[in-house]
Amino acid sequence: MIEIKGISKQFQNETEIDYRDMTFESGRSYMLLGASGCGKSTLLNMIAGILSPTKGSITIDGRDMSAATQKERDRFRIERIGYIFQDFKLINDMTVADNIGILRLEGVDISGMDEMLKHLAIYEKKNARVKHLSGGQKQRVAIARALVKRPDIILADEPTGNLNFAIGEQVMRELCEVSRGKTLIAVTHDDRLAKYFDVIIDMNEMTSGMRDTVSEQGGV
Ligand SMILES: Nc1ncnc2c1ncn2[C@@H]1O[C@H](COP(=O)(O)OP(=O)(O)OP(=O)(O)O)[C@@H](O)[C@H]1O
Ligand SMILES: [Mg+2]
Repeated sequence: MIEIKGISKQFQNETEIDYRDMTFESGRSYMLLGASGCGKSTLLNMIAGILSPTKGSITIDGRDMSAATQKERDRFRIERIGYIFQDFKLINDMTVADNIGILRLEGVDISGMDEMLKHLAIYEKKNARVKHLSGGQKQRVAIARALVKRPDIILADEPTGNLNFAIGEQVMRELCEVSRGKTLIAVTHDDRLAKYFDVIIDMNEMTSGMRDTVSEQGGV
């Protein structure tokens, strides 16, 4: 379970974002909606331990991550969190296999790579350089790289943002399929994808003072 309590983030340029309290239960899927700039990526970065909140606490399975050292947070992220970044963070000149293989440097077991690539229908591109892939194919590689270590927490930042609706829906369906039983927090602007998630959290409504709008769906 991930508990967000009383957090705010202030950047050096004085931008300050206040977050309402949120709880993400283990094994459930959450869709995070909100206007551009409202702080969705910043929230995922704080959950991942890449950024620290200025105030408040983030607790994961009872462990206060804000009290941990950066080294402990990095280790936790490597072991437990799969992060699909908004801009992929793939290395364009390297092949798909090498982009995933590089995780071995962090001690990640990548023995599930082929299976994951097959699951995401990208296996035939395993030895292609990333720069020769389409947007949807890169997105699948980013998902495969995040999930190959079988993390129990998956953070996905606009995993369908660069795709047309049909392909985006297919990728989202695949992401939800491979994330089943894990905690999935996915940012998306497209509310047509809401049906794939257990809970919808609208950060626009939260910041404008409508506090009880976290909606529960009955599951997919
Ligand atoms: N490293 C940074 N330094 C200064 N300000 C930042 C930094 N990162 C984000 N911000 C600011 O914090 C706010 C939230 O940014 P964030 O990237 O979290 O928004 P977002 O909700 O993910 O937006 P989008 O939907 O466009 O991706 C913005 O006003 C942004 O300018
Ligand atoms: Mg963002």
